[in-house]
Amino acid sequence: MSGRFGDRQQNNRPDNRNFERRDGGDRQGGDRPQGNFNRDRPQGDRPPFNKGGDRPSFGDRNQGGRDGGRDGPAPNRKPFGNGAPPRGGNFGGARTMVVPHSYDGCYILKGKKDTLLTKSMAEGVSVYGEKRVSVEDKGEKIEYREWNPFRSKLGAAILCQVSYCPIKPGAKVLYLGAASGTTVSHVADMVGPSGAVYAVEFSKRSGRDLLEMAKSRANVFPIIADARHPYKYRMIVPEVDCIFSDVAQADQARILGDNAKFYLKKDGGMMISIKASSVNSTMAPEAVFEQESNVLKEVGFKVDKYLSIDEFHKNHAIIVGKYKKE
Ligand SMILES: C[S@@+](CC[C@H](N)C(=O)[O-])C[C@H]1O[C@@H](n2cnc3c(N)ncnc32)[C@H](O)[C@@H]1O
Repeated sequence: MSGRFGDRQQNNRPDNRNFERRDGGDRQGGDRPQGNFNRDRPQGDRPPFNKGGDRPSFGDRNQGGRDGGRDGPAPNRKPFGNGAPPRGGNFGGARTMVVPHSYDGCYILKGKKDTLLTKSMAEGVSVYGEKRVSVEDKGEKIEYREWNPFRSKLGAAILCQVSYCPIKPGAKVLYLGAASGTTVSHVADMVGPSGAVYAVEFSKRSGRDLLEMAKSRANVFPIIADARHPYKYRMIVPEVDCIFSDVAQADQARILGDNAKFYLKKDGGMMISIKASSVNSTMAPEAVFEQESNVLKEVGFKVDKYLSIDEFHKNHAIIVGKYKKE
């Protein structure tokens, strides 16, 4: 990984992830039914949750130490809570320790096994049955949501230490292929109240769930449209800081390029999830990822080497880059 965009280190990779399949317990009316859990993959192919087994938490590894490692607290930032391990259920309180992740807008719940979190934009609401964690800090209650990387290519990319993540607090993000809004909801949490997510989805069925999720998040703008026709949403979408694309289509790099031409600022960020079989099921996945990198270069991006997220999503990779607009 070349890490060309310069805000990531590629060492100290966490190997202990805590993503048990758990019922949210307090799902809202718009939540997806349980039967849709892990719907992208056939039942027999489902990866084990809680992959880390009994391995030590990554803060304990001899690769940077508890506070100095890749996923230790960001420098000079104090953890919230007092460090005691969390309890079961929808947990939290003054005894739970949450620390900022080195990707702005993401957090880690420290425990026997560390868990990726985002700070919830919609307190009291689970979107896909994910657990919520409340932490008290100086009398203030803050709610976080667990981010399941098996349900989100972006969550997987973050845990696989993607070299560059332009999605951060305050960013305006154009999100292509929003589906029901699982990942969009975490992107909304990451960009926070001063940012915005313009979420494009062409399936009316998924669009209904997306609209429902957006009701409790003022920074999400759902757009039910075909991302192949970016001019159709020009009245809604302003110039954006970055585009995240997850449409799983053979021409997805072109779709991204067309949207960038319309909406992405110069040097704006790009992240695309590539499902190899959606592009060409007869080619080796690595060859597909290289081919897509070349298409992205043709449409105006400077790109990093692709990042495999195979351990969470089989034969998928993430490519990140910056837009070199004329
Ligand atoms: C892999 S799923 C996205 C999952 C979602 N990003 C998440 O993490 O929750 C791909 C989605 O892209 C949508 N899609 C595919 N082609 C599209 C297009 N041309 N315009 C808009 N949406 C599209 C599909 O309907 C589907 O919901």
